[in-house]
Formats: sequence, C-alpha cells, structure tokens
Amino acid sequence: MSKRDPQTPLTENKPLIKWVTKMADLCCPDQIHWCDGSQEEYDSLCELMVQSGTFIRLNPEKRPNSFLCRSDPSDVARVEDRTFICSQDKDAAGPMNNWADPYEMRRKLKKLFNGCMKGRTMYVIPFSMGPIGSPIAHVGIELTDSPYVVVNMRTMTRMGKDVLDNLGRKRVVPCMHTVGMPLEPGQQDVPWPCEPDPKNKYIVHFPEERSIWSYGSGYGGNALLGKKCFALRIASCMARDQGWMAEHMLVLGVENPEGERTYVAAAFPSACGKTNFAMLIPPEGFEGWKIWTVGDDIAWIKPDENGHLRAINPEAGFFGVAPGTSYDTNPNAMESIKENTIFTNVALTEDGDVWWEGLSDEAPGKLIDWKGNEWVQGESEAPAAHPNARFTAPIKQCPTYDSAWEDPQGVEVSAFIFGGRRMSTMPLIFQAFNWSDGVYIGATMGSEMTAAAFGELGKVRHDPMAMLPFCGYHMGDYFRHWISMQRRLSETPRVFHVNWFRKDEEGNFIWPGFGENMRILKWIVDRVRGRSMAKETPIGWAPHYEDIDWRGLDFPREKWDELMKVDRDLWKREVIMHEELFIDLRDRLPKELMFERELLICRL
Ligand code: OXD
Ligand code: MN
Repeated sequence: MSKRDPQTPLTENKPLIKWVTKMADLCCPDQIHWCDGSQEEYDSLCELMVQSGTFIRLNPEKRPNSFLCRSDPSDVARVEDRTFICSQDKDAAGPMNNWADPYEMRRKLKKLFNGCMKGRTMYVIPFSMGPIGSPIAHVGIELTDSPYVVVNMRTMTRMGKDVLDNLGRKRVVPCMHTVGMPLEPGQQDVPWPCEPDPKNKYIVHFPEERSIWSYGSGYGGNALLGKKCFALRIASCMARDQGWMAEHMLVLGVENPEGERTYVAAAFPSACGKTNFAMLIPPEGFEGWKIWTVGDDIAWIKPDENGHLRAINPEAGFFGVAPGTSYDTNPNAMESIKENTIFTNVALTEDGDVWWEGLSDEAPGKLIDWKGNEWVQGESEAPAAHPNARFTAPIKQCPTYDSAWEDPQGVEVSAFIFGGRRMSTMPLIFQAFNWSDGVYIGATMGSEMTAAAFGELGKVRHDPMAMLPFCGYHMGDYFRHWISMQRRLSETPRVFHVNWFRKDEEGNFIWPGFGENMRILKWIVDRVRGRSMAKETPIGWAPHYEDIDWRGLDFPREKWDELMKVDRDLWKREVIMHEELFIDLRDRLPKELMFERELLICRL
C-alpha cells in the first residue's frame, strides 16, 4: 500500500485497495487504519478519544464501558438544507430533494476533500447492512477521519474483517466522510466536536454511482453513513431498480399467549416514538403477550419466492433520542443503554453518570449540561441535554431483542402502519380499504415537526411514508414504486394509520399511549388474521369500542368517541393539504393516487 500505511490492508481485494489508495492520495491522511471490528480496536479508539478530550468515560460502576461525547453546538442534527441528491437528471431527484449538478458537486467535493485529513488517520470501515451473506443485505465501505464515527459504526452495523472476508463479488457502496478539519503540524488532534462553519457542510448522494460524500459534520445522521445516507437514500434507489423496499420503519413481532407471532412494520417520522413502539411492554390485562424488537428505525423489505414480503433490519444498534426516555416511558430502552453505550449531547451528573430531560422529574443535583457548562435545576433556563441528544447502543442489549434479527431471510411482514404526531383530525386508528388506498394514506401522512432536524417546531409538514428527508429520488416515482409492488406479491400486507397524539380541547393527550398502544396493535393483528370486526368510515375501516380489548384499562366510551371522531370539515381541509402535495408532484404522480383522492372527497 501507500508509504503512509504501516498496516497491511485486511483484504486482498485489489479494486478495493486501489480505491482506498486513491482516496488517501486525495485526502492525505498521515496513516490508514483498516478497521477489523474487534473489541480491542473499539476499546483503544474510545481510550484515544478519552485522551484527546472528545470522550468522557462514564463512571464504570454506574455505566460500564460507556462514554459521553459533546458536539459543537452547531452540529447537533441532520442538516436537510445541506443534503443533496446529485442525480444526472434534476427531475429524477424531484422537488422534495435538494438537487445539485453532479459534475459541479464532484468538483466542489474534490476541492474540499483535497488534503482534508492532513495530520490525521483515515479509518477504513467495512460494514454490512443486514446479516452478513443475507440475500437482503448490502455492503458499504466508509472512509472517515473520525474515530467517533468508527466506534458508532461498530455498534450500528456489522462492521470489520468478517465483512471483507465475505465480500466476494458484491458491489460495495463507497462512503467518504471527513469532519473537514485538517491538522497543522504540531496541532493536537481533537476528532470531534467540529465545524464552526455550518455553511460548509455537504451531505451528498450520487444515486446512479451509488456513492456518498459527507463533509463537515460529525453528527450521526450526517456522518454514520450506513444509516440515513446508505440504508435509506441510496438504498431507496437500489430498491426501486431491483424491486424491493428501503423504508424508514421499525419492525416488531407480536406474540400472543398461544405463541403465534405476527410481524408488522411501522413508519413514523423522526422522533415520533418509533423506538418506544418497537420495544413496547404489553399493559395490564395482556399477560402472556410479548413484543419482539427486530428494528427501531429502518427496514429493508423484499418479496420472497412465494410473493410474501420479508424484512430485515439493516442496522445492528439503536441511535435513539435520549430526552423523554425513562423507566416510565421505555424500560427496554433503559435496559439497552445500561452499558457499552455512547451518549451524545446529554448532561453529566456529579457521580459520572448521564441525565436528560424526562429521565426523572428532578435532576440528581448539579449537572454539567451538553455544552459543558454548570447546570442547576430551576436556575438554568436552557435544557441540560440537547433535545436531539442520542444514545448509541447494540440491539442485542435490548431485553425484547428478537433473534429473528439474525435471520438472513428476514421476517414476514403482515401489516404496514403509518402514523404521525397530530393534535387533531387524525383518529387513533383506521385501516385502509385496500393497497392503493394504503399507499394514499402513507403518501399523504403528515406530522408536527420535532427536534431531529432543523425546522419550525410544531408545524405540520407532509412527510410521505416518513421518507421526506430520506427518499433518494422523486417522491412521485416512489409512490409509483409502492403501488407497483402489489404486482410482485401474492398477498399484500394490510395497511393502517395510527395517531397516538390527538389532544382534547384543553390541550391534553386523549390517549395514554405507550404500553396501551398494545390494544391497538392487537386489533391490527386480529384484522390481519381475519379475527376482528370494524366499521366503515369515510377514511377507512375503524374499530368499534367493543372491538378493542379493554382488559386492565378503564377507558370511557365518550373518550373513545372523541379519539376516533372523523370530523368531515377538518378532513375536507386535510384533503386540500393533500392537493398541495400532489401539485408539487404532479408530473410523476401515479393516477391511482389522484383517483383515491377523488374517492375520499366523494365519501366525505
Ligand atoms: C433518526 C431520524 O435519527 O430519523 O432516526 O432523524
Ligand atoms: Mn429515523
């Protein structure tokens, strides 16, 4: 290899070595490190970051083998306005993506990446999205100068030498990442926090070439390139071309007391409770029921030879939102992050543990907030943890971890669930009349904005299938792809819409949510298996009060009626919003969706 490299590459794959060498010649790192994915490597990189001040080792008695990392205050979330889809043809990216000319963008990136790793180490991260060797999995190689990225990628993907050993002739997705802070001679290496210049962030996707270039951010969604960039934006293009689906969905299994397991996949926008739902604990009255977690964020779904859809979770860990997570809201997440966890932008307690808003009513004494300043409850105004503070933890640490996560064939998906955060209009639950109506429901879903991305908090935005920031091509073509999947299937999964967040006139949530969502999930499973009744409404099939299993919960019928109300006037307004979306997509909108809209208007 190049004279910079004291370590031999962990593979004899010549094209791969050649590409790494070429990229090293561009980025000019001092060293190249091929990641083997071992525990020793992980430990030594964490120690390196403790030494450089990027990581704080948490108290091993409280939180073994866990670390806190604080980012630069400007680098705390995905940056949608700095995220680009550089397809050859502008139209192919569609009006919902930032498009940039691929030639100009390549020129710009070449300049930015030229010498960007001077004084640093370039890490070569081979990773598999999905079980190594699974027919649904795909492989990527990320080159980065951030050890924070390496250790997070080790938790979030299957990473290291095994991936290289099983590479065969597979096509690899090349992923370039730099924090964009070359070091001057003698300057000490602080790998992250980084980037005081928010205008110089570029999260770039070349869908035809299937490559990713990310410059100037260390934040998860911008820097852990296996996740949103590969598993959603690039994979959505691969899925369209190859007849499968890459979706922003959790996957869970519902097991009844008889041991029958039914898998569902659910798309909720960022920070709308996917992680909580994926780890749900059945409430009182549901003794003998179990929920199994396959994934909490992304699903890759392919038809099998029998025409059934089978899903894998391409990830290996959780990159979950910390604030709001507690033993009350999600005990399984709390158990998952007891050890071997990286916390980003949470607060530090006096005894070397972590805290965030919602973890407990009272903060345990004085804290150091996510910016590194002293924080006292009742005195300090800003939150102690950033609202988008995160934990990175291995999925296997979750008590509801489903061993089917390792099954290369994936699990059979029987239902899709869409849902957003809506104060009004949307009932708690309804079922689509059929597949194209289901696609319409997913396509027109909306949600109030949360902290996972920059934007105006609280405003409803369309977020089709929760893929608005993640679809790597024209949304109209994406809807067409969904519609056309029906032809590949012997039976389509049933489609549902939920809204846990409806409020009453006083502004209180009507539905208790969390474990109680099990009651709704049970109705969904019973519908899928032909065991439950429903009534027809203008927007779809809805359960009667009596169709829900209320054992263990005293939930008044009047509240149910309020929660399930379909207000025709509000819905007429809702349908006008659908039209705004459709006008944006008019050139490529499948006509099935226009017909579905007409039918809905007639029914209203
Ligand atoms: C995430 C997101 O980080 O959707 O999962 O923003
Ligand atoms: Mn997500």
